[in-house]
Amino acid sequence: MTFLRLDCTRCERTYPPSSRRSLCECGGPLFARYDLERAAKDMRPGHLALREPTLWRYDDVLPVENPDHRISLGEGFTPLLTTPRLGAQLGLPLLSVKEEGANPTGSFKARGLCLAVSMAKAFGVTDVCLPSAGNAGSALAAYAARGGLRAHVFIPRDVARVFVMETAAYGAEVVLVDGLISDAAKVCAERASQGGWYDCSTLKEPYRVEGKKTMGYELAEQMGWRLPDAILYPTGGGTGLIGMWKAFDELERMGFVGPQRPRMYAVQAEGCAPIVKAFAEGKDSAELWEGASTHAHGLRVPKPFADFLILRALRQSHGAAVAVSEAEIVDGVKEAAATEGLFMCPEGGACVAALRKLKSSGHLSADDVIVTFNTGTGFKYVDNMAPLW
Ligand SMILES: Cc1ncc(COP(=O)(O)O)c(C=O)c1O
Ligand SMILES: [Zn+2]
Repeated sequence: MTFLRLDCTRCERTYPPSSRRSLCECGGPLFARYDLERAAKDMRPGHLALREPTLWRYDDVLPVENPDHRISLGEGFTPLLTTPRLGAQLGLPLLSVKEEGANPTGSFKARGLCLAVSMAKAFGVTDVCLPSAGNAGSALAAYAARGGLRAHVFIPRDVARVFVMETAAYGAEVVLVDGLISDAAKVCAERASQGGWYDCSTLKEPYRVEGKKTMGYELAEQMGWRLPDAILYPTGGGTGLIGMWKAFDELERMGFVGPQRPRMYAVQAEGCAPIVKAFAEGKDSAELWEGASTHAHGLRVPKPFADFLILRALRQSHGAAVAVSEAEIVDGVKEAAATEGLFMCPEGGACVAALRKLKSSGHLSADDVIVTFNTGTGFKYVDNMAPLW
């Protein structure tokens, strides 16, 4: 047992690992804490090399204690691809892409939902739910099907049909809601409290971030226990960015990496950029973005619940937040496809566009080792991108 307790990210409260808490009494998100000294002994790099090529190779720092409760579809340990042709075109020769489209259900959402649904199963829960821009819903539904749980997914009505079909195919109840993910979240929360369901909304339960943090562990392992100089991450709710930041802290405490940290860059769309605005204004939290609109639906989050954790990580890392236009996003998708054979989701394309902007603004330079995230396959976004293509 390395899972010790849940700590609040806002106040001093802590909870035992057995508590089925979603949030702290103060409303703050909770972080799982581990006996890292013990984990470090078992997770030595030599031992790790022999483990399975999924995120479960880091099970010493994951909360699922009983292997019978693991619900797996082979998630994680995705390729970290050097991208010399794209890098040369951008003047950033040390660029790599973390290809998260290789995950089950085609996106990085598999990581978080794998952990959240596994923990729900460990707690004996029968029903799980969340609001989604598409990818999280299909991942929740797939893991629920795999584990024999019922899933309820609340999706904005304009989300591409492929997500609705896929999510329903896994046997989930799909509820289409007029409006944005924030509107879907309200309906979801009401139904969850009526039905006593386990709510897997972003950072409103402690375990999705644990699944997402494995992206940080993988980067360290795949780069020979060094971290890059800069990371670009398409930021909606921010779970991945927050999770990686947590991972780097754990890795340093275990003695696997030093105190050096990558500069973290949050990439958003000009039509919904609450983090970019808050960062520029020096604020600790974001204001609700009115009239949010972008075809990169994963970035259409008008007010991230854990905004303060995203902004804290950006500032501590000496990174920044940057917004790109709809046309730049599609150009980014085309550029990665033509130079490297990678057909990215628009969220990944946004990061490619941001690379160019950050290079010209002097944030990135030719001698930086850079990792940009493609968080999902482009195949599911053909309808979204078609009008701009
Ligand atoms: C493909 C894709 N990229 C990025 C995001 C944003 O992720 P996060 O909520 O971790 O910031 C999403 C969220 O829906 C997504 O589906
Ligand atoms: Zn608290």
